Amino acid sequence: MDAAVGDGCDVLSVYLSMGGSTVPFYRDILAIGAVGAVEKGVFVSMAAGNNGPNASTLFNDAPWMLTVPASTVDCLIGAQVRLGNGLLFDGESVYQPDVSAAVFYPLVYAGASSTPEVRFCGNGSLSGFDFKGKIVVCDRGNGIGRIDKGAEVKRAGGVGMIIANEFPDGYSTLSDKHILPASHVSYAAAVAIKKYINSTTNPVAQIVFKGTVLGTSPAPAITSFSSRGPSLHNPGVLKPDITGPGVGILAAWPFQVGPSSLAEDSGPTFNTVSGTSMSTPHLSGVAALIKSKRPDWSPAAIRSAIMTTADPIDRSGNPILNEQHQPADFFATGAGHVNPDKAVDPGLAYDIDPGRIPDRRAVQWTARPSR
Ligand SMILES: *[C@@H]1O[C@H](CO)[C@@H](O)[C@H](O)[C@H]1NC(C)=O
Ligand SMILES: *[C@@H]1O[C@H](CO)[C@@H](O)[C@H](O)[C@H]1NC(C)=O
Ligand SMILES: *[C@@H]1O[C@H](CO)[C@@H](O)[C@H](O)[C@H]1NC(C)=O
Repeated sequence: MDAAVGDGCDVLSVYLSMGGSTVPFYRDILAIGAVGAVEKGVFVSMAAGNNGPNASTLFNDAPWMLTVPASTVDCLIGAQVRLGNGLLFDGESVYQPDVSAAVFYPLVYAGASSTPEVRFCGNGSLSGFDFKGKIVVCDRGNGIGRIDKGAEVKRAGGVGMIIANEFPDGYSTLSDKHILPASHVSYAAAVAIKKYINSTTNPVAQIVFKGTVLGTSPAPAITSFSSRGPSLHNPGVLKPDITGPGVGILAAWPFQVGPSSLAEDSGPTFNTVSGTSMSTPHLSGVAALIKSKRPDWSPAAIRSAIMTTADPIDRSGNPILNEQHQPADFFATGAGHVNPDKAVDPGLAYDIDPGRIPDRRAVQWTARPSR
């Protein structure tokens, strides 16, 4: 961070891969680096973390950092699940293969096995089960990558996968570059799909790919993985600060990672990725936009402009919702969703002189045990 400041940068955009520390600010290298940057007039925005939805799961929460959660955008890449009983459930997948819309496949829930943990479709967990030619329902989570679950289903002979949210993730689904036909569905859909599997002796399903779906609602909504406040180290200052687009963000994709590096992946040059490391650069970009229009503004004035002009409502004019489709609280959204047009011309900006940032050695930060 010191090197970037020395190079004369105006904005530092800090991804989660740089770290997320739960130690007190005076021992947190990012907090120390950031206070030095702010003193030199460099704006610092940082990812809040992907450990939601529980309270006090955020990182990078020093008062001089912009702490950024993640919200959805109003479009996605659709993969609809159709059940043999006629019910339809909208889900997501970046991988959009050409499949016949006429064929239904046998549908099974990996968790129907009596072996615990099989429901998460971890690597090797489906050995010994016959999933040949079937669509397999796998539960989200347990530390297993969503694409990796698909690799396991494919290895076990499956022709498709449904990733089923559990209750904490609610309606928050994600588009991934799966390696087999797949759809990620909400908890509500998952409950209905499992109920259907139980209700009939020969459950069947198909996955129909919908391409880009525009104008989805509610949007923006806070996604389940977005880390929440309050800050454990400094609960007196509201954190996070302000949300931006962080779900299904389209970008150039030069990398091959994980099982998607298998030979059949010929390497598309675009992908969508989700995380607070995706929302943070949006806020950094807005800060750079303001800095280009108002070169003499301090990091504090830029941040004030961004936060006081944030939208507290979504595109439909309703309160911003969370993963359960309940109104999201300030510990999820911060000031609201960034509005770049308004932020450039806020009318009023609160400033602070870096000299008035309290001396780090003199401040007694409240120390609480980290989780
Ligand atoms: C989140 O909070 C719930 C309810 O307090 C708890 O059961 C769950 O274990 C927590 N999850 C994590 C990942 O800590
Ligand atoms: C899955 O297990 C196989 C065999 O044990 C191993 O070769 C492979 O690297 C594992 N894949 C992942 C994603 O862990
Ligand atoms: C399906 O049946 C199993 C076993 O009988 C049961 O444990 C499970 O709760 C049922 N699931 C649903 C969604 O009805």
